[in-house]
Amino acid sequence: DFTVLKNLQPQPELVRENIKKDPGFGQYFTDHMAHIRYTIGDGWQGHEVRPYGPLLLDPAAAVLHYAQEIFEGLKAYRHADGSVWTFRPERNAARINKSAERLALPQLSEEDFIDSLKHLVSLDQAWVPTPESDADESSLYLRPFMIATERFLGVRASHEVDYYVIASPAGPYFSGGIEPVSIWLSPKLKRAGAGGTGFAKCGGNYASSLVATNEAAAKGCQQVLFTDSVENKYIDELGGMNLMLVTKSGKLLTPALSDSILDGVTRRSLLELAPQLGLEAEERQISIEEWREGAASGEIVEAFACGTAAVITPISKLVSEDFTIDHGEEAGEKTMELRKTLLGIQYGRVEDKNNWLV
Ligand code: COI
Repeated sequence: DFTVLKNLQPQPELVRENIKKDPGFGQYFTDHMAHIRYTIGDGWQGHEVRPYGPLLLDPAAAVLHYAQEIFEGLKAYRHADGSVWTFRPERNAARINKSAERLALPQLSEEDFIDSLKHLVSLDQAWVPTPESDADESSLYLRPFMIATERFLGVRASHEVDYYVIASPAGPYFSGGIEPVSIWLSPKLKRAGAGGTGFAKCGGNYASSLVATNEAAAKGCQQVLFTDSVENKYIDELGGMNLMLVTKSGKLLTPALSDSILDGVTRRSLLELAPQLGLEAEERQISIEEWREGAASGEIVEAFACGTAAVITPISKLVSEDFTIDHGEEAGEKTMELRKTLLGIQYGRVEDKNNWLV
């Protein structure tokens, strides 16, 4: 079980309450963090929750050199009755183990994963914001991560690993809230390739997206879209979230999972909710050309980004070097319905028929 070392100097209540009113994304952290240490001889030991603070890392720690690292992202939501819930954490537990397998990191039991979240959220529950309206998506963002900490410069899987969970009060990921975002189509740079780590949630995938994200910003766009690395033709995903399209004939379209696409919990949940909203979920390869022609003919009517951090953010346009696909500055109808249903479940306003809340 977890040993709890309480922070004797938590942030003052006034500071905490002010942060919760306007947290932005990923800027503020709670008073505690969870930690479990792994060694090849003893397995996972020393489960604890302790005061949040800097880590002491050897400069030769493997993670700093060879990026042997993975992470997760999920949120804790406060319901109107004050209770606090996470959403499908067993999906994150399964995914961190898929990522661990790919990055040669040790498996962590679902029990340890979920217990680490429960202990941290329960100790820091005062940090979970209370949403002020149905449109308010504030929550406590949870960031579990696993790093290779053995002091060794040889290139092989680390024999020592540390797992942590930190928590951060969060508002919308994009500064414009649910204002539609514009997307830059990366002409050359790829996020991930066949046989690579694209499906795993490892820091390297995000590092590899940064230059393209800078390029997007230079073009006035908030996100970047990557295509497949083989044919440079099919939609993979955005810099940090999945992409979905809605057709006039009532389909919710998204690229099928592959080596290079992250199995998003929001993505999966929306595909599962689609039939309830009269949409037929379809996962397959989608080319940029299909999107372009479909938007021109009126068959593809809406596009949005989805992820734990981004929730559902409408896409106004896709900008490429030689054309623009325009979906307008108004959020799409189905996009907003999906968003309302998903947030409704997460915040306890819509019946949780699938028992997704823990
Ligand atoms: C998420 O939690 O949604 C992520 O993928 C991480 C990052 C884009 C903030």
